[in-house]
Amino acid sequence: MSRLIVISNRVAAPKPEGEGGAQGGLAVALSAALREYRGLWFGWSGNKADTFTGHIDFQRHDGVTSATIDLEEQDVEEYYNGYANRTLWPLFHYRIDLAEYDRSFAGGYERVNQRFAETVQPLIEPDDLIWVHDYHLIPLGRQLRDRGVRNRMGFFLHIPWPPSRLLVSLPFHEGLVLSLLAYDVIGFQTEEWLESFTNYVERELGGHCEPDGTIRVGGRSVHAAAYPIGIDYKEFSEAVASPGAATAFERLKKSADGRRTIIGVDRLDYSKGLEERFLGYRRFLEEHDECLGKLFLLQIAPPSRGEVHTYEAIRESLDELSGRINGEFAEVDWVPIRYVNQGYGREDLAGFYRAAEIALITPLRDGMNLVAKEYVAAQDPEDPGVLILSRFAGAALQLKDALLVNPYSKEDISDAIAKALDMPKEERIRRWQAMNACVRDEDVVWWRRSFVEALAG
Ligand code: G6P
Repeated sequence: MSRLIVISNRVAAPKPEGEGGAQGGLAVALSAALREYRGLWFGWSGNKADTFTGHIDFQRHDGVTSATIDLEEQDVEEYYNGYANRTLWPLFHYRIDLAEYDRSFAGGYERVNQRFAETVQPLIEPDDLIWVHDYHLIPLGRQLRDRGVRNRMGFFLHIPWPPSRLLVSLPFHEGLVLSLLAYDVIGFQTEEWLESFTNYVERELGGHCEPDGTIRVGGRSVHAAAYPIGIDYKEFSEAVASPGAATAFERLKKSADGRRTIIGVDRLDYSKGLEERFLGYRRFLEEHDECLGKLFLLQIAPPSRGEVHTYEAIRESLDELSGRINGEFAEVDWVPIRYVNQGYGREDLAGFYRAAEIALITPLRDGMNLVAKEYVAAQDPEDPGVLILSRFAGAALQLKDALLVNPYSKEDISDAIAKALDMPKEERIRRWQAMNACVRDEDVVWWRRSFVEALAG
């Protein structure tokens, strides 16, 4: 059997006891795949070095080998903070107003992808399957091919793919997309992002996209398809049943003191629609004074990418907005928003999700959104909560029984909260059963098997 080489910007392979916090679902799933196929997980250590040496730090834990490299300060600035998070991230989330086009970023992106290629190439054996992840590493396949790598290579994009009319605002967009064609399989989260990609290939590259997912451009033929990522349902169900989750559940229920809880959990990112969410919730409070004091919004938002100024700006706006709304509506014994800037482990989150009657997940644009799926998986089948979900999250294409909202509309958010609060139990159960079946059946194991099967050819 071939080995699997996973390459991503961040390596989330298992860590030794006592190092690092809880593993995310993706880390757990890819680690399981790596155990099954042997192989290794290669990426950036997250650390900076004075100069790039190409030294690889190998670690083996729990049957999984990770291989990481340090990057120079300038690499991190131009590649990670720059091209990945100031150019591609906003553009791919439809925010060309925030996208910065700077040649030094593009140069740093190319350089770091070359450094990845140079360093990982000697580790690759002839039969290995290579699976590259996310927008940080689009040109890596091309770089490896240029160095003579002939292995089967796949790429999976975890974030949206933008409409062609937005993508053409990126200088040298054609080169970036052409470099993707060096892979054999290109995976997207949903049909919608796939459709934007094929539209680009046809309009801008004069390629042909066949209904079976074959894409032909020039002499090259690759396979492109949607592989919606799921959660590790089994592992998450164990987290829900854990003593840690029971403690977290009790903690939230006790502090709620009979009030109903609306929960949101998001990385602090402008794509998550947190300002719009707070304003929608504010509209609800204005329109439903009978509910004042009887519910609250628990928004957990761990800060992210703090070296990028748009992230500093969104953090400031949210501090201000949550403070303003609380000042406006709070009572001596009640605040409408509990705004928390720290992250929690999986068991805590599982307990919080189960304790919350409503989840309010309203990104303006999101590749998938696994919080929505985790919320569903954490519910009590006899008395499940209600999921309010943005129609612009990839997950909305699967979770059709959520209350789907337009995250830009205060009225829509407010109406959905009112509807969720009044929803009869039978309807909650019916909606939850349909969503849970999907979250359970189309889980992360199904996702990676489908992708790896296509990659193995
Ligand atoms: C998104 C991206 C991932 C990224 C994660 C956290 O989910 O698709 O590739 O790792 O955000 O962002 P960070 O910049 O902290 O790695």
